[in-house]
Amino acid sequence: MLEGFLQMEHASDLVIGILAFSLLAALLAYFRLTRRLRALAAAVHRFRDGDFTRPIRLASAHAAEDSIDHLSATIEQMSERIARQLEQLQHAQTWRLELLADVSHDLRTPLASMQGYLELLLLKHGAMPLDEQRSYLEIATRHGERLGKLIRDLFQLSKLEAHEITPKREAFSVAELVQDLVQKFQLAAEKRGLRLECRLCGQPVQVLGDIAMIETVLENLVENALRHTPAGGSIHVEVEPRAGRVAVRVADTGCGIAREDVAKLFDRYYRVDRAAGRDDGGTGLGLAIVRRIIELHGSTISVESTLGQGSKFGFDLEVAANEAGARHAVSIMPAAPR
Ligand SMILES: Nc1ncnc2c1ncn2[C@@H]1O[C@H](COP(=O)(O)OP(=O)(O)OP(=O)(O)O)[C@@H](O)[C@H]1O
Ligand SMILES: [Mg+2]
Repeated sequence: MLEGFLQMEHASDLVIGILAFSLLAALLAYFRLTRRLRALAAAVHRFRDGDFTRPIRLASAHAAEDSIDHLSATIEQMSERIARQLEQLQHAQTWRLELLADVSHDLRTPLASMQGYLELLLLKHGAMPLDEQRSYLEIATRHGERLGKLIRDLFQLSKLEAHEITPKREAFSVAELVQDLVQKFQLAAEKRGLRLECRLCGQPVQVLGDIAMIETVLENLVENALRHTPAGGSIHVEVEPRAGRVAVRVADTGCGIAREDVAKLFDRYYRVDRAAGRDDGGTGLGLAIVRRIIELHGSTISVESTLGQGSKFGFDLEVAANEAGARHAVSIMPAAPR
């Protein structure tokens, strides 16, 4: 009887022990679980209090052991994306404000000149020799053209900076584009007493990019080379496939650029010789547009220049997927004059 009673007491102790242990284990598991969830909630609060600018960093996001780790990883990625987009928006906003200030300042000069010449013509109407009238009209037209170019360039650059236009990638032959471009500028080069040639290395390969954007880049580089190379000089536009990419270079034997100016070349409105730029219609926006377009193509624009000897601007483009990219003999092809 006593023995039975003792056995029952042991059994009930055992049950109580098991229950206490299970409760403890459940409590531990609960605290472990809620500790990570609490850490997650605190991180989300910190993200909100920091104006969504500092992305969440969680140690558990990289463990990938259970669903809380997966949730942490997703929240971390989401916060990074929000912070990045917010930064882009703020950047675009600052850029727009700066642009607005620049636009009102830069458009004023050509507009005032144009207006001045037109008012003079009106004032002296009938009392001015015809050739003088014509020359005033020509000057007013030049200022009008400059104004148009400035507005077009500013519009394009602001859209590029605000990510409102992105490259429409397609496969195209950059060698053909270069040949067409060299033909287009041939007459202008001849008028300035310059040799303009394209140099195509290897077999023609298709590249991946936005053909209209790359044309804008090449036009600006060739126009710059034409402007800054004295008569008797030469300009080469080179295309060379190498290791899955195609290098494109515009080289001239012009005045070159001083080392201290090279770093600033791609800033908006930067012109080495400001007075000359104003005369020949340069706005100083060309290379800023070039850099942005090349960056959007996943490449960088390079410059090599020696004062008094010439400059070389280059970038490369991705070869289209179905291209072999083999290199063959070098051929030098001067473009036929128009
Ligand atoms: N090939 C070059 N040789 C010497 N200087 C150059 C050359 N290319 C550019 N530069 C210098 O860099 C400056 C900036 O060039 P960028 O193309 O941005 O402006 P721009 O040609 O003056 O005007 P835009 O291109 O807007 O008509 C030029 O004004 C010039 O001083
Ligand atoms: Mg230019």
